[in-house]
Amino acid sequence: MRRKLLMGNWKMNKTTVETKEFALQSVEFNKLALENNIDIGVAPSYVSLATFKSVNPDMICAAQNCHFENNGAFTGEVSIPMLKDINVNWVILGHSERRTYNNETSADCNLKIKALLANNMTALYCCGESLEIFEDGATKEFVKTQIVEGLEGLTKEEVSKIVIAYEPIWSIGTGKNASKEIAEDICQFIRSVIAELYDVLTSEKVRILYGGSVKPVNVKEYLSMPNIDGALVGGASLAVESFKELLDNIL
Ligand code: PGA
Repeated sequence: MRRKLLMGNWKMNKTTVETKEFALQSVEFNKLALENNIDIGVAPSYVSLATFKSVNPDMICAAQNCHFENNGAFTGEVSIPMLKDINVNWVILGHSERRTYNNETSADCNLKIKALLANNMTALYCCGESLEIFEDGATKEFVKTQIVEGLEGLTKEEVSKIVIAYEPIWSIGTGKNASKEIAEDICQFIRSVIAELYDVLTSEKVRILYGGSVKPVNVKEYLSMPNIDGALVGGASLAVESFKELLDNIL
């Protein structure tokens, strides 16, 4: 049985003061989530990770990126040992905003996923197509390539530990969320690609999330679908009240 997962992606939002406020208020409802076998977490900016962890150490706290090298001449980058040092064990990789604005490729993500796994950390690997690809009916082909390239060279055991998020770019921050049927179809397809690359048992272990304009009003319909194990939420994860409502609606 896969545990449900609700993840907030804060993107470039919240100062350390704002992060601390959220972290304090979320201690109690993280306990409630865990008692109900639901994992919840947020991804603050690098600057706020240590603050979050120091206030709410039991809730998942993810970085929004990392470098695959442990150290070196990479100005502006943050390494995996630096994240481990502040007890951050999760990293979101391949978000469409990073693919678009920072030219991050699936091959880059593959190096980062391998480095995270080598450090016993969890990668949350994002995939998803543009509106043009969606309208051309080429979503599956496109997403399959992202999955194949992102998971290249991983063993079955390694793949079963990663989390995948399907986030159609046309639904991110637009209020145009994909219907639960579309989201389920692609999440089921991703699982079938993993089954094809590895085996059915391995594919059944991987948690697959939907992301893109998930709100308190629609979160439950996604999580009621058999192949959707949770949600990656941007805008609606920022206010603590809204995050709590997302959780309440799936409890
Ligand atoms: P949104 O963002 O919920 O604001 O659409 C989702 C994401 O980018 O992960």
